[in-house]
Amino acid sequence: VPFCRRRCDYCAFATWTGREQLWGRYVAACVAEIDQGGAVAGYGRPVTSVFFGGGTPSLLPASLLAEILEAVSASAGLAPGAEVTVECNPETVTGPKLSAYQAAGVTRLSFGVQSMVPHVLASLGREHDPATVQRAAGLAGEAGFGGRYNVDLIFGAAGESLSDWEASLEGVLALCPPPAHVSAYALTVEAGTSLAKDASRHPSEDDQAAKYAMADSALSAAGLSWYEISNWARPGAECAHNQLYWSQGEYAGVGCAAHSHKIFSGSSDFSDFSGSSGSSDFAGSAGARAKRWLNVRSPERYCALVEAGKPVEAAGEVIGPDERAVEALMLSLRTRAGVPAAALPPEIYEEGLAALAGGRGVLTLRGRLLANEVSLRLATVPPSG
Ligand SMILES: C[S@@+](CC[C@H](N)C(=O)[O-])C[C@H]1O[C@@H](n2cnc3c(N)ncnc32)[C@H](O)[C@@H]1O
Ligand code: SF4
Repeated sequence: VPFCRRRCDYCAFATWTGREQLWGRYVAACVAEIDQGGAVAGYGRPVTSVFFGGGTPSLLPASLLAEILEAVSASAGLAPGAEVTVECNPETVTGPKLSAYQAAGVTRLSFGVQSMVPHVLASLGREHDPATVQRAAGLAGEAGFGGRYNVDLIFGAAGESLSDWEASLEGVLALCPPPAHVSAYALTVEAGTSLAKDASRHPSEDDQAAKYAMADSALSAAGLSWYEISNWARPGAECAHNQLYWSQGEYAGVGCAAHSHKIFSGSSDFSDFSGSSGSSDFAGSAGARAKRWLNVRSPERYCALVEAGKPVEAAGEVIGPDERAVEALMLSLRTRAGVPAAALPPEIYEEGLAALAGGRGVLTLRGRLLANEVSLRLATVPPSG
């Protein structure tokens, strides 16, 4: 859902402001992509999770999101117990909206909180204050979501002290009901953003490392364990949708700038894609080939293409078995599942960057701080080896 009320200084996501007149047309195009283009049904099985991401999905009337969910349900079907998440900006939620989500089959919310300290929120260019977050959490509880919501936090904004960050962590953990899931991201300077142009507001890596360690300690003490570098959850509340990405699962992207991934399952799948010989058939196995692609970026172009019955794919690539094996290790290294022990050289263990657990090498806290460097030292052994 590529719409926001205003653009935050740090954000480079594909999102636009002031496009209210496009909302209905855009949702109709998403439904058409699902119904007519087989975007979801083309995978040949029911979906196990749906994630309404943005932008700000909660800006749209709930009835429009429900239309998209109904189209998914009617085309491919929802697997029993499917996880359905909606990303919400705290200032956009109301009791009736959250109740309508519940009625439509939404099972989980994700709030873009970022901070619980007013001057840090202002520094990030956010519209809400901590009281708005407390109100949104309360409404989630009343609507029947309980703690089944995530909170996104960002650390490293200009002017954020260590005690400000501690206050944000405490503020989030004190929400009522408390969240079962927290994502804490180091502020990243993205090209083309207002933040990128102002070097005086760029984060310091050492400050962010200290804040990461604080987050891990506070969240763990509250019963939320890390399961991916930036994600902590109560047992059983891990996000199924994200876990699918990290385990190289298949996903169907619907809408502009959406990404898709399909594992090669036969000779006809990539007939439209140069460079693919289409000669093997290993769907779901470590030796498979896969295709990854993304849709056109702007909502206007996306709507025009769908309405004209034309493909919406902007670019794509086929990934061979060797590249997939390397990516499997890189993704798994970032999770608490770790990698086969032999995929990391002995010095990584000697330096305390990873520890052995059940034949797997799992990043330590220090290793998580240096995960990109550890990743460069991965040996390319098969992920199951
Ligand atoms: C695509 S945004 C959508 C969420 C929602 N619109 C919101 O902001 O409340 C998902 C999350 O990405 C994170 N994010 C976006 N840009 C970031 C950046 N430059 N550095 C770190 N985190 C970022 C924020 O925590 C945000 O909540
Ligand atoms: S962080 Fe969220 S609200 Fe801010 S511009 Fe990005 S998508 Fe929109």
